[in-house]
Amino acid sequence: MTPDVRPLIAGNWKMNGTLREAAALAEGVRAGLEGVRGADLLICPTFLHLHVAAASMGWKPVAIGGQDCSAEANGAHTGDVSAAMLADAGCGYVILGHSERRADHGESDALVQAKARAAIAAGLIPIVCVGETEAQRDSGEAEAVVAAQLAGSLPPDFAGAKGVVAYEPVWAIGTGRTPTNDDIAAMHGRMRAELAGRFPGAGETTRLLYGGSVKPSNAAAILALPNVDGALVGGASLKAEDFLAIAAAVPA
Ligand code: PGA
Repeated sequence: MTPDVRPLIAGNWKMNGTLREAAALAEGVRAGLEGVRGADLLICPTFLHLHVAAASMGWKPVAIGGQDCSAEANGAHTGDVSAAMLADAGCGYVILGHSERRADHGESDALVQAKARAAIAAGLIPIVCVGETEAQRDSGEAEAVVAAQLAGSLPPDFAGAKGVVAYEPVWAIGTGRTPTNDDIAAMHGRMRAELAGRFPGAGETTRLLYGGSVKPSNAAAILALPNVDGALVGGASLKAEDFLAIAAAVPA
């Protein structure tokens, strides 16, 4: 945790479920909120399920986010969704540059930065994802890779606009494997130094989330690490009980 930073527990539902299942999951999260005191909560359904999720929350107290947005404001971009459309649908956040988008759609740091600019212009808080591959970690490049991703993916007004960074080692996503707590703390310390250096006065309190196989059994230890200000949760966010247990693991 970082002093004076309220943690954020974000659920990335990815491309899962039916409308009915999304509504039930959102309702399950809403119904179990009493046990969660120390963190803000966010759920990120697929575009088609945003509306039922937002309706279930009554637009609050759990925030809603998209999983991607266009870098363009509007117009002839078939299949894309703009940041303003997400805001209009009740979103307060948008995940950008997830490694699955970087891999599946070839998204570059420059494109992620353009999307973050569009998100901020529409009043959304971008959650920009970074993280090394297993080969990059094995060759000792992990910190340099992440530092370069931060330099390329974050626009100049990122920290001032309360942008969030999620460190998600690619090899830890959906695998059940996580870095050691020491490795997570070391990476988050490096990210903090990069952000404080680039955004003096704001980067010191930018929320830094950890993501990659976070589950109820490892959440408390990870969330207690210095400079870990929450989690981006994939698989475990698809069960309301597990997502709430992770959120309840944040020290109150
Ligand atoms: P996971 O996914 O929790 O299933 O590892 C995390 C993510 O991709 O955001």
